[in-house]
Amino acid sequence: MKAVVLVGGFGTRLRPLTLSTPKQMLPVVDRSMLEHVIAGLGRHGIDEVVLSLGYREDVFRNAYPDARCSGVRLEYAVEPEPLDTAGAVNFAARAVGIDETFVVVNGDVFTDLDVGQLWQRHREVGAEATIALTPVDDPSRYGVVPTDEDGRVLGFIEKPSRADAPTNWINAGTYVLEPSVLERIDTGRRVSIERETFPALVSDNALWAVKSDAYWVDAGTPDTYLQVQLDLIDGMRGQPVDGIAASASIDPSATVEHSVVMDEAAIGPDAVVRDSVVLPGARVEARASVTGSVIGPRAVIGEGARISDMSMIGDDASVDAGSEVVASKIPQEV
Ligand code: GDD
Ligand code: MG
Repeated sequence: MKAVVLVGGFGTRLRPLTLSTPKQMLPVVDRSMLEHVIAGLGRHGIDEVVLSLGYREDVFRNAYPDARCSGVRLEYAVEPEPLDTAGAVNFAARAVGIDETFVVVNGDVFTDLDVGQLWQRHREVGAEATIALTPVDDPSRYGVVPTDEDGRVLGFIEKPSRADAPTNWINAGTYVLEPSVLERIDTGRRVSIERETFPALVSDNALWAVKSDAYWVDAGTPDTYLQVQLDLIDGMRGQPVDGIAASASIDPSATVEHSVVMDEAAIGPDAVVRDSVVLPGARVEARASVTGSVIGPRAVIGEGARISDMSMIGDDASVDAGSEVVASKIPQEV
């Protein structure tokens, strides 16, 4: 099975971290987001991935110079300009000459859902496209997908208001597509698979869905980027993983609880880090505290400073000694 993995977005919700690093190349505990996603695909029988690239494609190429990632062979398709989700799928599939049934995934989704099962259902019903669905509490930031009892899709409503969402089952960002779907996508302009292609398939009764309540998180926002990492150390997806890198240095008087501390990061005397992620080379100085927040690579949190409530500190930023950062991004967006 071949999969196109969409990784060409700007990752705006994860700024400032994504100003230098594309979202899927941000570290999640011990590996990039992309490595986690591709390892999951590999476990479900995908042996070749086409990376659909745009924003900062150089970062991906430099990280995987031998075109292998988590044991899976990579091909690269670089868009000359962002073509949106359907435009990107079309561009990537044509670039590598896909002419058989294939898989598409959003590159920021952490999930244990079974692509093989999705593929099988796709065959059984003779669908043109089949998408995985997952239940969420607030469907308004996703593609909302009502179906009939057999799984035929009755509508596709991208990011409706909460009141207008007819169901809590949403597009999980994993699709099985026939190559004929590509013929429905105009070339040379931006086309959204969620706003154009799926609604057109619904009108033709050609879109099917499979519901799954397997583990599923879209890691594209600050709180979910934090959550996928705490879930890994909590053992929500198998054996708990160790969140503290071997090369991190933690002063014996510091308190580090329920957190990830990455390579070469340093936590100083009497500092406190709780429910947080500290990226490589960052420093939390003496008596500073970090709670429910993300500290970017090489950032410095000065002595006694307090960072809390889903704050995000960007690459190389410094927070003055004694200052307080609550529910904020540093640097602030301009
Ligand atoms: N190559 C390329 N070109 N990739 C793109 C482009 C583009 O122009 N635009 C977005 N992407 C990539 C992003 O990098 C990401 O991996 C994926 O496409 C989805 O974009 P997001 O920006 O993460 O979308 P979302 O999370 O708001 O919504 C999507 O995912 C939800 C599930 O996680 C939609 O597919 C929703 O319907 C869905 O519920
Ligand atoms: Mg997303």
